[in-house]
Parts: sequence; structure tokens; C-alpha cells
Amino acid sequence: MASVDILLGLQWGDEGKGKVVDFLAPKYNVVARFQGGPNAGHTLEFDGHKHVLHQIPSGIFHEGILNVIGNGVVLDPITFKREIDGLAPFDLDLKRHLVISNKTQMIIPTHRMLDKAYELAKGDKKIGSTLRGIGPTYQDKAARKGLRIGDINEPDFDERYNQLRDFHLQILERYNFEAELDEEEKLFFEAIDIVREFDILSTEYLINEALIEGQSVLAEGAQGSLLDIDFGSYPFVTSSNTIAAGACTGLGVAPRRIGEVYGIFKAYCTRVGSGPFPTELFGDKGEELRKLGNEFGATTGRPRRCGWLDLPALNYAAMLNGVTQLFMMKADVLADMDEINICNGYKIGEKETNELPLYLDTDNLGLMFDTFSGWENDKVKSFENLPESLDKYVKYIEEHTKTPISLISVGPDRTQTLLKENF
Ligand code: IMP
Repeated sequence: MASVDILLGLQWGDEGKGKVVDFLAPKYNVVARFQGGPNAGHTLEFDGHKHVLHQIPSGIFHEGILNVIGNGVVLDPITFKREIDGLAPFDLDLKRHLVISNKTQMIIPTHRMLDKAYELAKGDKKIGSTLRGIGPTYQDKAARKGLRIGDINEPDFDERYNQLRDFHLQILERYNFEAELDEEEKLFFEAIDIVREFDILSTEYLINEALIEGQSVLAEGAQGSLLDIDFGSYPFVTSSNTIAAGACTGLGVAPRRIGEVYGIFKAYCTRVGSGPFPTELFGDKGEELRKLGNEFGATTGRPRRCGWLDLPALNYAAMLNGVTQLFMMKADVLADMDEINICNGYKIGEKETNELPLYLDTDNLGLMFDTFSGWENDKVKSFENLPESLDKYVKYIEEHTKTPISLISVGPDRTQTLLKENF
């Protein structure tokens, strides 16, 4: 029986998962999203095109791959329709290559409004949510009030929609949030008609049957391990399990079906939204990294906070996910820097540690660093022949994580990717 390989982010999201899934996709028969929703923005660049996907799996641009939106995802029909419209120029046979789980939870317009109302009420303690309705939709899932995509074909769908919307409106009233719904609902029901044109299935059967037939499946993570609802920097996290375990519950596959776990990380660190970020750089250094890496959110356009690679955090994520191979992204961004740092341990009071404390706030946390120098980017041609300082950087991370790095990305295009021999 074939297995499910997982590709996921080991930091605070935006590691470059879209590029890598698109690059790896030809090796797989099925590519499936298992959690998150339109808060994700997976950027793919190929043949001079740049395209951002939010909910549709990143295997969509390859002929012959089945893309699955799994039950663990929260799907916004309006964003879905927009994504479908955006794919029109590529002339893809979407209805044949994309299916949706009937158990995928649905984001309705008032979920987005609730997200805004809750964030506003938090004041300066806000999470920095993407405001796409993710939290309130997972909240309704856990409260057993949610609507699922399969419900759109039930005779009482409109009634159940109205019930949930009215419940949300009561909450919004308490938050003094003015809900203007006419236009939103028009878009929503137009979008529902588009969703109905797709196959809405018990995709857990489809995926398990594919595995029995020997087909390979790639599970595409969204956000990153440090945003995981259980293990991330709570409460500044997203609302789903972003770690490998989420692929089991989010697709309906058993743990023993999991094969490789590809952990993807940037050669440095970024974060959007609020919350602790121990190695964050401020002032000119932070600005330099943001400019060099063009670090602006793919979903919201917000400037990303930038900082050095954090090995205790990377190791924590590698442990939680059982990472078998590491992929290092955006190595080219560091090339021109005179001095590059890696945090290789924390100090809490007098105690040195590699364990992440319950709260990651930098006020209580000392950082220990090792320093590296840059390299000439145009000398980066193959994995086996890296410039000396980059080679040192790669080996240092491999040694400290006890995990091999199998892929190094040195630019946004599919072609700017170095693979270890035999990968
Ligand atoms: P939410 O998931 O939109 O509620 O956002 C919760 C937190 O996760 C915020 O700090 C967001 O900036 C962050 N976040 C959510 N999705 C992504 C993502 O795809 N990339 C990076 N950060 C994200």
C-alpha cells in the first residue's frame, strides 16, 4: 500500500509551501489540503506567471493530479469562486481535477464579521488574524453548530443557513457590529451554485482507496507548526492543528499510512500578525531582511516581521512532526549579508535550554547565537558544490536538527531549486 507524504511549514507560516508542492506534485497522484482555509496564501511561480492559491491545493497546475480539499479545511465559497475565476486563463479541467470533502466546514459571511468583531474587542491584545473567518468557523465546528459543504445539497440547507446566520447576528449585535449582509449573501449564494458543480464526496474513502491502489498522496499543510492551536505560541495561533497529526484527522487517514514528512523552513524566520518572535530583528536590520526577502503577506499584503533562524523552535517543530527531510527556502536572501546569525539556544535566567517555555516572550528569554558569513549567489549552482559559507550554514543546521536537508530553494521560480542527489 502506498503512503501519504506530508509537506508542512515548521515556522510561523509563509515558508514557501506553494512553490515546493507545485515542484513535488508531479511525483504524486493526489494532492490534498487538510486544514486551514483562505487564511493561507500559497504562491506559485512558473513560466513567467505568479499565482496565489488560498484554498485550492497547489497540485492544480499539473495535468492528471487529483486535488482534494479535505474535511479538516474550512472553505469559504466566495473565495473559492474567486479562485476558480482566477484560474480561468489557465484552461484547466477543474471539475475533473478538484474534489471537496462533504465534511469540510463552511465559512459563511457572518463568520468573517465575527472574526472582525472579536479582534476589535481584543484591542491591543489582538491576534492579528487574517480576518477570513477561520477562528469562528472552527469554533462552530467544535460547538457542533457548523455547516458542512455536503449540506448544500440537503433540502433544508437554506433553513440551516438562516439559523446559523441569525445566531451570529445576535452575537454581532452584542458587539455593536453593524452587519451589512445583502451584497455578501448575494455573492455567497452565487458561489454556492459554483461549489455545487464540483464533486462533493466522502474523500476519506477516495484517499484510502487511492492508497490501496498504490497511488501516492501528498498532504499539503497550511500556516506553520508554530501557529498550531495546541503547540504554537498560544493564544497567538491559528485555530487548527497545523502539525503532521492534523493530516490524519483532516483527511481521514490512519497514522500508520504516513510516509515521509517534509518540513519546510526559511533560512531565516518571519511572522505576520501579533505574538512572540524571539529572534525578531528591529530597525534597519529587520527592514533590510524584509526588503531582500520581499516579505509582505500573500493573503493580506501586510509587512512580515523578520528575524534570524531559531533552532530551538525549528527542532521543536521537527520533533512534533516527525520530520524526515528538511527543505530550506529563500537561501538566496541571506547571500549578500555580511553577518548572518542562527539562534542555537535560549537562556532563561541562568539556565541554558533548548526547550520552548510556555510563553515565548523575549522579556524573559536570552538568546545564544552562532555567526556565519554570506556567499556569492551566482556561485550557487548545485547541491553538491555549494559555496563554502552556504555549505557551512547547511551542515550546521543538519547537525543541530539531526535531519538531512534535501532541498534548497534559491529563488521563487520552479527552476531555482537545488535537490540533493537521489532525492
Ligand atoms: P487566523 O488563522 O486568520 O485567525 O490568524 C491567526 C494568526 O495566524 C495570525 O497571526 C495570522 O497572521 C497567522 N496566520 C494565519 N494564516 C497564516 C498563513 O497562511 N501564513 C502566515 N500566518 C498566518
